[in-house]
Amino acid sequence: MDRLPGFRDFYPEPLPHKDVWSIDARNYIFNTWEKVLSYYNFRQYDGPPLEPLELYTLKSGEEIVGQLYNFIDKGDRNVSMRPEMTPTLARMVASHERNYRKPIKWFSIPQLFRYERQQKGRLREHFQLNADMFGESSPEADAELIALLIDILRSFGLTAEDFVIRISSRKAWSDFFNAHSSDPSKAYAFYQIIDKLERESPEISSQKLAELGFDYDEISQFIASGTPTEELQTILKNLEARKLSEFVKIDYGVIRGLAYYTGIVFEAFDRKGHFRAIAGGGRYDNLISLISGGKLDPITNTVKGGKVNMPSLGFGMGDVVLTELLKERGLLPSFNPTLDIYALIENESLRPQTLSAIETFRQNGYSVDFSLTPLKSEKQFKRAIDLNAIWSFRLQQNTSENAPTFFIKKLSTRQESSFSTLQDVLNLISSNH
Ligand code: HAM
Repeated sequence: MDRLPGFRDFYPEPLPHKDVWSIDARNYIFNTWEKVLSYYNFRQYDGPPLEPLELYTLKSGEEIVGQLYNFIDKGDRNVSMRPEMTPTLARMVASHERNYRKPIKWFSIPQLFRYERQQKGRLREHFQLNADMFGESSPEADAELIALLIDILRSFGLTAEDFVIRISSRKAWSDFFNAHSSDPSKAYAFYQIIDKLERESPEISSQKLAELGFDYDEISQFIASGTPTEELQTILKNLEARKLSEFVKIDYGVIRGLAYYTGIVFEAFDRKGHFRAIAGGGRYDNLISLISGGKLDPITNTVKGGKVNMPSLGFGMGDVVLTELLKERGLLPSFNPTLDIYALIENESLRPQTLSAIETFRQNGYSVDFSLTPLKSEKQFKRAIDLNAIWSFRLQQNTSENAPTFFIKKLSTRQESSFSTLQDVLNLISSNH
């Protein structure tokens, strides 16, 4: 039976087929993400993979709602698999933010589900690192988050020649919108057209913009001008102090498709333009108040009446484009699992004593493998080599009255030593580890 389109099977390496994904590469990516997040003092959280449908229909915007994996559950509830983490996180933070010192800096690596048209870099399921901050309205926080994104990508060996963070301002766009339109209900449709500008033909974009009363050329000029707002200038200065300027550029071609962004927005792209966005995020200062019961005033773009109100910002980075990019650049390490000890059982009468030794090795933190059923000695030895074992271990009993002797061999040099106690074997291994 085939798997569903847009879903992946993850196998251990070496991979059996080009159509499957590597669990080793995935773990490498997750571990690297977590390492850099710890340097930035982010704490981990998680939430449910299934949520009330409403959480997304109200907060994420139409585009994502069209991509939901939603259904009615056995209790007649309208539910959806999570297409993104941000609404869940906003709900969690709104409920219990009082228990945490500000700014809250949290991350998670959820698996997300979107019923998208399958294409390069976009599947129906992906893992997405989410790094978010709450309780900090200064642009210094936006700069910290962008620096985190840069450092994560650098930690995979990517350089300023490989990627660029395009930084923009939803606020600059909303000012542009308000200067040209008096109908705030059209703002989201307008942002959607701008978000797709680079992927859509100019004729279609131009026509859609005209329907909303906008001129394509004027918009192209606004994007080309790229004059940084005051907020963007602060961010650029901050990044310059960190010597990270070469990784970023101001680019009003970015606006972000999701509805809830309010301020600085940014996306990471490969410089060669071979792939879809590697990561994207920004500031969403209204979402917590919306989630906690507030009502949006579309004229001022502020929320009134929410129980909790907190400045918020973050980004998401998927595993799909990142893996493809690292593969293309030859930056994925090779994954050769090693084993500490392979235990050979050359005489089945020694199996119970060998099992006892194996248990001791494992209790001491060594990885051990052995043949679960009788097997010719040569075959066991070959398996030790195939498994990349550092040591082979065996017991030998010369006469039935004597206690067995413990043999330990370093497979790289084939040098074997014998001992009368297991403790001596452990001492040898630990002194060579
Ligand atoms: P997003 O731009 O929808 O943002 O997704 C962020 C990243 O997730 C993308 O740049 C891409 O790497 C990856 N991604 C998204 N959809 C797919 C897909 N179908 N297949 C593979 N990868 C995908 C958000 O989701 C925001 N909630 C991020 C955020 C966090 N904003 C603030 N905090």
